[in-house]
This record gives sequence, C-alpha cells and structure tokens, in this order.
Amino acid sequence: MSRPSILLAALIGCTAQADQVQPPPDRPVPAEPVAFVVPAEAVDHTPDDLDRVTVRLTAAPHSFEVAGQAVQGWAYNAQVPGPTIRLVRGQTLRVELDNALPDPTTIHWHGLHVPFAMDGATWMHDPVQPGERFVYEFPVDQVGTFWYHPHFDTARQVDLGLYGAIVVVDPQEPQAEVDVVAILDSWDEVADRDDHHGLDGVAPVLTINGVRDPELAVPAGATVRLRWINAANIAYVGLSGAGLRTIGGDQGLFSAPREGVELLTPGERLEHDLAIGDASEILAHPWSLYGGALPHDPERLLSVVPEVSGPPPDRLPFTFDGRPPSQDPPFTDLVYVLHGDPTTGDWRINGERFPDITPHRLPLDADVVIEVRNLSASEHPFHLHGHAFELLSRNRVQPPHREVHDTFNVAVHEIVRLRLIADNPGHWMVHCHILPHADDGMMTILEVGDMGGGGH
Ligand code: C2O
Ligand code: CU
Repeated sequence: MSRPSILLAALIGCTAQADQVQPPPDRPVPAEPVAFVVPAEAVDHTPDDLDRVTVRLTAAPHSFEVAGQAVQGWAYNAQVPGPTIRLVRGQTLRVELDNALPDPTTIHWHGLHVPFAMDGATWMHDPVQPGERFVYEFPVDQVGTFWYHPHFDTARQVDLGLYGAIVVVDPQEPQAEVDVVAILDSWDEVADRDDHHGLDGVAPVLTINGVRDPELAVPAGATVRLRWINAANIAYVGLSGAGLRTIGGDQGLFSAPREGVELLTPGERLEHDLAIGDASEILAHPWSLYGGALPHDPERLLSVVPEVSGPPPDRLPFTFDGRPPSQDPPFTDLVYVLHGDPTTGDWRINGERFPDITPHRLPLDADVVIEVRNLSASEHPFHLHGHAFELLSRNRVQPPHREVHDTFNVAVHEIVRLRLIADNPGHWMVHCHILPHADDGMMTILEVGDMGGGGH
C-alpha cells in the first residue's frame, strides 16, 4: 500500500468505526497476523537441460514497503528479497544479470566456491556498468544455504534491497515438507547517510523476507526446515524458540545438532528444524556489537503456526557425521589483526585500510592456520571469499565438533583460529561482513596460487 492509500484507509476506518460497536475495553483487539512471505523462486529457463539452471536477474530501482513505510529501494526482478535460486548439487548455475541501476554493480555468490572471474569482487575486475549485461556461470558442488548480493558500493547496494537466497539441496538428504528461507534484514541502519532508504524516525525494524513479525502457517504435523540468512548490514540477533534445533550453518549440516540461543551475524547462515505440535515463536535476543548479549527482553521475530494442533512430528532423520574438530596446532601461518574505532569509522586489518593494502599470498592447496585477533572495541564477522574454513578454536577452546564456516564472528578481544585449505586460485577478498566496516577499510586480499598479473 502506498502512503496515499494508507491515509485513505485510515480515513475510511475512522468513519466506519464511528457507528460500529467497539469491543469491551478489557478485551485486547487481536492484531491481524501478517503472513510469512516466501520469496518467489527464480525460473529455470532450461527445462530440457537438467545439468544447468539459467536465471535472469535485472537489478533496478524499485519502490516497496517495509512495516507500512514506503521505501525507494533497489531490487532484483522487482522483489525484495530477490528470487530464491534453488539448485541440486552438481548443477551449473548461469545467471544473466542486466544492470538497470543508475550505478555500476556486480553479484557476489556468498559462500560458494566460484572461479575468481565469477566472484563479483571488483579487485582486478570491472563492475557491470549501467545498461550492461554480464553472464555469471559456474558449477555448484556444495550443499546448503548461500546468498547473493552486490560487491560494489556494497553497504549501500545491499541495504537498498539487493540480495537473495541460493539453496543447494542434496537429493540424498531427508526433505522437509516445509523448507523455506528466512532472510533477516534491519531497516534503520544507515539513517545517518544521505542516501538512506527512507525509514527516518522509525525505530529499528527487523524483517523476515521483507515483513515484520510474520506468521508462517504450516500443515498439521509437517516437518519444517528454516534456512536463515542475515542480510542486514550491521544487526546481530540471537535466535531461540521452543521446538527449535540448529542443524546447520554456512556450509550445510553441522557435524552434530545444537540446542539453545544461536547468534546470527551479518553474512552468516543458520539452519533450524522444528518439531512442533502447537504454535511456536522464534525470538530475537538483542545483541550489542560492543559487548555481546544484552539483558533486554527478546522480541518475537516469527511465529510458526500449524493449521491444527496435535502431537509434534518426528524429527527428520538427518545424518550428522559427529566428526571432532581438527587439532589446533602450535603454529600460525597467517595473522589478521582487526583494529578500528567506532567513533571515527577508521577500520583496519593489520594496520592497513582497503584499498591501500598488502595482499598475502599462499601457494595453491596450502593447508594453513589463520589466527584472527580482534583488538577493536567492536565485534566483527570475518569473511573470506572463494573458500570455507574450519573453526579450530576460540580463545584456545576447541569446539565440541567440527564446524565449517565462511563467515565467523570474532568477539571483542577474542582470538579465533581457523584452518584453511587454499584450493581455489584467485585474489580473494577477506573482510568484515558489517558492510559499513568493510567499505570503511576493514578488507584485504588473500592471493591463492599464481594468477599472474599481480594484485597491486
Ligand atoms: Cu557477503 Cu565479500 O561478501
Ligand atoms: Cu567489522
């Protein structure tokens, strides 16, 4: 609804109410639940070639609404989130991007191990100019929940609405009856920027697939798999809920399921499966970048409501491999020190601000230990392109099971140790996924293999 029609509705509402019987004051008027929006799926234009999925994306200005407020944003195919791209492991994805924006753009395939020329980073490659088309094409041999977003003027372009999900399924895995993406965004984040997308004066609004506090109706007894993506520029949330267990993260299923509050930081993904017989609420626990969990009450992010109450369904029989973590060895190959100051917006890695950086270089297939030391007063989700890494330890404490991520939060003054097998040649971006931090300098390059040409 546009602003004029909201006004009109409000006016009509007033006149109609005057001669209606009001509910007794002690009975609260139930608010109409807002339906969960499942982002439309991208259309497969190649039905006779099962090995290939072709998707057309047009990035263009788009007006939409968030929590009743008009937003002059940008979108893929006039929808926010953009189309969900669903693939079967082993397929080749071809995406024809038309840039109908007034600015250059690119698409980055967050978490997928694409060839460097397809990565959408503008280090060594030009962005797609307004009016131009670029074709991305690469095979996908991973399973899990991934996402796509621009990597040019990134904080602004993502914030305006350019993002979408990629779901890669393994047909051998048990399939949930309801399998949906839930993309979190926050709509108050760049209120101090001139090009802010239009929620001035509005309290922070968290949305799921563009809708605030939606209700997901599911068939009675259905198994539900929720695939979370945090597409917000800055917002961290802790997620919890009755009947919820965490089964996976950035790179598909975990080695063992987990219970309890899970932090979801910008760029990260989490997968939950739900076994509920009754309506269940998923809560967002407030989190501060400057000190972790806050004592305030959680807010409801999403309700999942079975059509009819009944006994909870059995959990899907996922196979968790139960693997222990790799050993954290007594040496380090690469160190990234995160510095910065929230008051000046001066963010650095190893004392350098992108693009004035010195790339690190690794031989192809190097198996290395990376230590990330956060010396700043803010948390930072550490992200590396083209690869995933294993979490070895946090402040020397190993995780109970093997965990593989492509984005991992480093708390204030924390030391996170990671194992990387550098098997994808390229000049890969390493950055904080709080996108304004990255745009303000907290980004560097890791060169893998000999690409020729040099990166500086
Ligand atoms: Cu989603 Cu370079 O990031
Ligand atoms: Cu950061």
